[in-house]
Amino acid sequence: MKKYLTLMMVVMAAGSYAKNYHEEIEKRQDTFSAIEELSESLEDELDEDAPNWEMVEQQSLKLVEHTKSLDSLFSPESAEDSRARTAIWDNPEKFDRLMAQLNSGFQQLNHASRNRDIEAAQAGLEEAQDTCSSCHRSYRSLW
Ligand code: HEC
Repeated sequence: MKKYLTLMMVVMAAGSYAKNYHEEIEKRQDTFSAIEELSESLEDELDEDAPNWEMVEQQSLKLVEHTKSLDSLFSPESAEDSRARTAIWDNPEKFDRLMAQLNSGFQQLNHASRNRDIEAAQAGLEEAQDTCSSCHRSYRSLW
């Protein structure tokens, strides 16, 4: 009886894991979409002669938080039914480096926005945006 119960619990846990992956994948895709939208709108804002710094400050903080939250959204084996390639877990060095660069670029953007420093803000955003296609080329499938 005890054995049976343990087995039941394992099966149930496995079931909920599968479900979690689905939620996790959806969450990371939504997070990436939010990152894309926010960084494009900040790029436009920083082209203005007098950017709305308060807005840049708030939005760049969101970018830092979104990027940080991605750390917990890449469980091993969560590639199925997503565009994440298994190279993320098989060959993580470049992935981790680009993720860290994405994070530090947005941190610099946020820091610069608090100092109202447009050049440093643009440089931070650029550092972050340099990672997008490089990571996608190696770690996001084409379909
Ligand atoms: C360290 C790697 C990495 C970096 C850096 C990265 N991405 Fe991605 N991105 C991915 C992976 C992997 C996926 C696929 C996720 C999935 O399908 O589960 C993805 C998916 C996306 C998606 C699609 C979401 C969807 O609905 O399917 C968008 C949009 C996106 N990224 C935008 C960006 C932008 C913009 C940047 C740079 C500012 C960026 N990404 C930086 C790895 C990265």
